[in-house]
Amino acid sequence: MPHVSITPGITLRRAVPADAQALADAQIRNKAHLAATEPYRDASYYTAAAQTERITQPQSATWVLDDGERIVGRVMLTGIVLGPLCSASVGYWVDADHRGRGLVPAALEEIARISRDELGLHRLEAGTLTDNVASQRVLAKCGFVRYGLAPRFLHIAGEWRDHVLFQRILHDDPPAHVPK
Ligand SMILES: CC(C)(COP(=O)(O)OP(=O)(O)OC[C@H]1O[C@@H](n2cnc3c(N)ncnc32)[C@H](O)[C@@H]1OP(=O)(O)O)[C@@H](O)C(=O)NCCC(=O)NCCS
Repeated sequence: MPHVSITPGITLRRAVPADAQALADAQIRNKAHLAATEPYRDASYYTAAAQTERITQPQSATWVLDDGERIVGRVMLTGIVLGPLCSASVGYWVDADHRGRGLVPAALEEIARISRDELGLHRLEAGTLTDNVASQRVLAKCGFVRYGLAPRFLHIAGEWRDHVLFQRILHDDPPAHVPK
């Protein structure tokens, strides 16, 4: 994938294994900022080996926001499924110092386009903690629609927490294997 300019000085590009250490460093730098919305991470998560495993894991795709020197954000699709579902879950974060600049909504818009045009997906879904207003704003700006509330959905910061569920339908064409 070419590098896409998100804002002057910040590009979006697919992560490669060579990014693993920089991704670990970014998450160490942002530990306090991310702690309230993330599952439990043990020390092994913050290593190049674990980040390489995540970048290369099946049914997933990872993009990074890059300021030319450091990784300042990540957007990741997991659970990519084709067939009659053609869907994936999306998760994201941005460096604490880069919040409020619209970087994640812009990145997510580009990833929605890639999901539709290149990955053959019909739908993206996302879940946020009920009090994660910033993330809910990102999803609203990107055309995601709330479709439910999942009680005790994910184990986050030490507790099973309720999540608001959102989805964005990307198009209404049939899956690629179905004749039009
Ligand atoms: C949620 C998150 C990805 C938003 O990314 P972003 O690039 O800052 O998105 P935006 O610039 O569109 O800002 C979204 C909202 O964040 C809030 N916000 C703005 N500036 C902020 C700041 N300096 N600090 C905290 N929140 C701020 C506002 O509510 C804003 O909505 P608005 O534009 O309607 O005012 C980012 O806050 C983050 O990384 N949070 C921690 C990880 C997380 O929650 N991930 C999602 C899990 S579901």
